[in-house]
Formats: sequence, C-alpha cells, structure tokens
Amino acid sequence: MQRHEVINGLLSLFPAPTYLEVGVDAGVTFFAIEAPVKVAVDPHFKFPLPEPGSLPGDVTFFPLESDRYFAGGIDRKFDVAFLDGLHSFEQILKDFINAVDVRSPGGIIVIDDVIPSSYHAALPTLDLNVQFRTRLGISDGSWMGDVYRIVPFIDTFYPQFSYATVLENHGQMVLWPKQRSLEDRQQRTVEEIIRLDYAHAILENPFRIMPFAEIVSLIKASRGVG
Ligand SMILES: C[S@@+](CC[C@H](N)C(=O)[O-])C[C@H]1O[C@@H](n2cnc3c(N)ncnc32)[C@H](O)[C@@H]1O
Repeated sequence: MQRHEVINGLLSLFPAPTYLEVGVDAGVTFFAIEAPVKVAVDPHFKFPLPEPGSLPGDVTFFPLESDRYFAGGIDRKFDVAFLDGLHSFEQILKDFINAVDVRSPGGIIVIDDVIPSSYHAALPTLDLNVQFRTRLGISDGSWMGDVYRIVPFIDTFYPQFSYATVLENHGQMVLWPKQRSLEDRQQRTVEEIIRLDYAHAILENPFRIMPFAEIVSLIKASRGVG
C-alpha cells in the first residue's frame, strides 16, 4: 500500500476532513491526498510553490521547519496529521507532541518510517548513515533514523492513544484516541528507550503490526461505529 492510500483511507472516516503533512519533499503523497483542507510544512519543498488559490480546495504551503510552524499558533484542527519530517527521535517526538495539540476530537496521527529496513537505515543521523554505507560500499540509501524509538515511547508514555503499524507497507504507525489499559502497555524508563538499539527494537517488536483493514475496524469500533 502506498502512503497516500493509507492516509486517504483514514481521511474517508471524516465527513469534511482537514489534513496536515509535515515533511512533504516532492509532494508525492501530498498531491495524492483527497481532502478539502490540506496544509503542507517543509523547509525545502522540492517543487515551486503554487500561487495561493491556484489549486482546488483550501491548500496552504508553509516553507518552514515544523518547530517554527507549530510555534506560530495554529488556528485550525486536523483530522489526520502525517508526520514525515526530519527522521530523528527528538524531532518526531516534538512533531508528535505538537500534532496532539492540533488534532480535532477523534483526530488520527500517522507517523512514517517507524520500522527501519536495515541496521544502517536505523542510524540516528544521515551523516553517520552515509559514512557507514560508504565504508562498507552499501548502495541502498535508505535512512529512517531512530524514529522507531517513538513506538515504545508512545506505548509506555501515551496510553491515551491506541496504535498499530500498517502490515502492507514499509511501516506507517497509525494512532487514534482510545485509552489503553495498564496491562496493555509495557513499562519502560526513558533511558531504556533512548538506549534501545535497532536489533532489540526489532526483537522487542512493540509495533503492533496488523492489516490496514483491521486498523480501520479498530478505529471505527473505538467510535462506536460497526
Ligand atoms: C521523507 S521526505 C517526505 C516525503 C513525503 N512525506 C512523501 O510522502 O512523499 C522528508 C522531508 O522532510 C523535510 N524536513 C526535514 N526537516 C524538517 C523539519 N524540521 N520540519 C519539516 N520538514 C522537514 C525534508 O525537507 C524532506 O522534504
């Protein structure tokens, strides 16, 4: 499943959805999203910004780092926020906490790249990733960073959200508001999460990987819809 197929499936759960994407790049996902209100945030869009009002619907581009965008005071709430900006644990944690604040009631958050595809993809900085690959002659340029740490963090520290990771793609984590019980979360220290390396993250497997259709059923059930 492509990123936009997952997100459009989630947006279709809302009557007139509002959408936020943090980290847009060339807009492969953003331009395939179907929502009457769309907001894009990226300090380095890889396309010329369209003139305001030239696209159908209410579409706004903020050529800013996400910290600066969220610090600006947001006057709308989003039904789906897709977080795919800088791939470090610290940045995704800030983006997540900010996205929680600008969610509509019932709003869903999607976090990209939570399951690194290799050891080098999980290295915490792009610079280290490039140095490591260059030394070993690895041509696969994947870099997902240590975003994976957000999964055990949310599991332990954000029981207000239920979550799962989409089975049919590279690892999109979907979060929706439904309290998890004490038994339904693992207790960890912040230090354990900071020190969780790639191998142990994969072995511990906090991702709750499941088919997208099952995730949608759980979200509907959490709203009392069959
Ligand atoms: C993996 S790409 C996004 C891909 C896009 N979401 C898609 O599905 O096609 C990551 C993007 O995050 C942007 N980025 C990096 N740091 C950022 C920050 N602090 N705030 C927002 N975006 C950031 C980069 O400029 C890059 O375009």
